Amino acid sequence: MSEIPSKMKAWIYDEYGDVNVLRLDEGVSVPEIKEHQVLVKVVAAALNPVDFKRRLGWLKATDSPLPTVPGCDVAGIVVKVGSQVKNLKEGDEVYGDINEKGLDKPKQFGSLAEYTAVEEKLLAIKPNNLDFQLAAGIPLAIETANEGLERAEFSAGKSILVLGGAGGVGSWVIQLAKHVYGASRIAATSSTSKLELLKSLGADLAIDYTKENLKELPEKFDVVYDAIGLGETGPNAVKEGGAVVGISGPLSPPGFIFILTADGAVLTKLNPFLESGKIKPLNDPKGPFPFSKVADAFSYLETGRATGKVVIYPIP
Ligand SMILES: NC(=O)c1ccc[n+]([C@@H]2O[C@H](COP(=O)([O-])OP(=O)(O)OC[C@H]3O[C@@H](n4cnc5c(N)ncnc54)[C@H](OP(=O)(O)O)[C@@H]3O)[C@@H](O)[C@H]2O)c1
Repeated sequence: MSEIPSKMKAWIYDEYGDVNVLRLDEGVSVPEIKEHQVLVKVVAAALNPVDFKRRLGWLKATDSPLPTVPGCDVAGIVVKVGSQVKNLKEGDEVYGDINEKGLDKPKQFGSLAEYTAVEEKLLAIKPNNLDFQLAAGIPLAIETANEGLERAEFSAGKSILVLGGAGGVGSWVIQLAKHVYGASRIAATSSTSKLELLKSLGADLAIDYTKENLKELPEKFDVVYDAIGLGETGPNAVKEGGAVVGISGPLSPPGFIFILTADGAVLTKLNPFLESGKIKPLNDPKGPFPFSKVADAFSYLETGRATGKVVIYPIP
């Protein structure tokens, strides 16, 4: 194991704003670890909408102090362990979402850096069939997909409508509903060019939201997972007594919105499904973006048109 330096390269911003506030700094201190944390040498990272919402200052009421090194998703190698770490050791290849509560004092020093400090419980061993760049895009999105399905009490034999099936979260909702939870029927929405993708992920019915009026769908579903924030659309499409779960507003009652609680145990639980190839990470074909192009990767994610995950790799 090579020696851990005291300074590292990291993307950082000192004030809130558009992508121009981001700068690559070569002299950021490598974070100290606490007793339940490990230090991860970052090999790949991924962006999530929360990273740009935070950078724009939309979450400043509950943010940690500036300056901020953004980034929640990480895949990398453990290079140091805290005194109370039980299950991880140096050399382990791990992945995870480094913020247990992404909106409540997320880490000041995130994953868009050469090193990041993470609680052991937020990490899992990387699936053995996936390289770092495929693993990096998984954690936040798959954990959100899974928590929403659990909160909606989704189970075998139920039907589901996924609003926004081609995004980071939606693409996992389709796959988990089909291959982990045993859905009886899956419908999902996207724009025209992504309809085939929805089917390849496991949707029985792919609905083009640019052509169909989602407020007048002929079919009702046991559960609607709204990954976009489409107001009444979900409640209109759910069966009596069914559940509408959302992750971003607006969402009309009886729909409810939750905020992810990240948990490495969810990744560990899903690892066999990933390792068997039953469920597969979907990385946007425009990526991976090299570390020098993080600002471009942010700009691309902010178009709202990404297909699956926007990944940063390699990280020096
Ligand atoms: N509450 C939480 O804990 C939590 C966790 C994760 C994410 N979120 C939030 O959930 C939202 C989605 O996150 P994400 O990571 O999945 O985002 P994302 O990957 O950036 O989503 C992009 C996708 O959204 C699709 N899309 C945009 N408008 C659409 C519409 N009207 N109908 C259908 N699809 C549409 C796009 O497909 P087209 O190009 O076909 O439109 C694109 O493929 C974000 O607002 C994020 O902040 C919340």
